[in-house]
Amino acid sequence: MSDSQFVSRCTADAMNNAATSLLAGHLVAFPTETVYGLGADASNADAVAKIYLAKGRPADHPLIVHISAMDGIGFWANEIPEYAIALARNFWPGPMTLILQRSEAAGDFITGGQDTVGLRVPDHVVALALLDSAKKIGVHGIAAPSANRFGHVSPTTAEAVLEELSDYLSPEDVILDGGPSQVGVESTIIDCTGSNPHILRPGAITQAMIEEVTGLKVTEAQSEIRVSGSLENHYAPKATVVLDTEPQPGHGYIAMSDTKTPVGVIRLAAPETIEEYARILYAALREGDLQKLVRICVDQPQGDGLAVAICDRLQRASRGR
Ligand code: TXA
Ligand code: MG
Repeated sequence: MSDSQFVSRCTADAMNNAATSLLAGHLVAFPTETVYGLGADASNADAVAKIYLAKGRPADHPLIVHISAMDGIGFWANEIPEYAIALARNFWPGPMTLILQRSEAAGDFITGGQDTVGLRVPDHVVALALLDSAKKIGVHGIAAPSANRFGHVSPTTAEAVLEELSDYLSPEDVILDGGPSQVGVESTIIDCTGSNPHILRPGAITQAMIEEVTGLKVTEAQSEIRVSGSLENHYAPKATVVLDTEPQPGHGYIAMSDTKTPVGVIRLAAPETIEEYARILYAALREGDLQKLVRICVDQPQGDGLAVAICDRLQRASRGR
């Protein structure tokens, strides 16, 4: 167990202290509406290097820079297309990351050496308060991947962050507890460097929403951009995840609430809606590991929209670690 500082009451003072820690080059794990992030001052190469160490993540994978409001785009990005502005106006703060041409401010240690940068304004009071406090003392953005070890399931509670990273954080680092994440799957990542937007990672901002707001068709074009979340074996628990298969006694089981639990099967989640499915999925996979289950059977949700994001993560989880 590390002695990183676990902050369960996110008062104004606590936010200012956390911002000061960021400025001093320490890590701050914080809640967002999607999943918890592991943050560092996005202008500080040494601080960002600590993220890669704590996660055990290859250093050439780019990080999302979190900003407090849309007016921070211009600091980090150049040549912002009109449709990206429309997306930001409509969906920020929210579960959406825009990939844009980087400015001078976005160092190679943020972009993985690419000429683009990922930006997001998260929709969570604690995240926004932290970003505001940080900005006031000169921190223009917080670089943050999901606060899990590389390849593991993203944490949706502060306890899960502690479970994942306690061995890898130092006493100066901070974990802010803002309760369970309300969306539960990572942000939609939209490449905005072409004439049309395209989705690099599906999330709660769906293709239909993007097309409606931009008036543009979302293209499927394959991009050269590296997205570690698009690696095949990602988001995986220790248990083997098996999709759309009848569970046997002793197996874990995740399915919509209208599906019954066979005798002897351990029901890990029974969501009533797609939104609830997304919200509780990662906690259910973690619970399976806590119970030391060997196999977790999962019925994929039907439909488009958020179901696409859930199925994307489930398929990766089913390919194992
Ligand atoms: O919801 C989220 O996006 C969460 C919360 C904490 O904001 N963050 C998150 O970060 O999921 P991470 O690092 O686990 O996944 C972000 C993905 C990575 O796969 C990374 O490769 C991709 O975003 N990414 C970041 N910057 C990029 C860039 N310039 N070009 C392409 N992909 C980028
Ligand atoms: Mg991640």
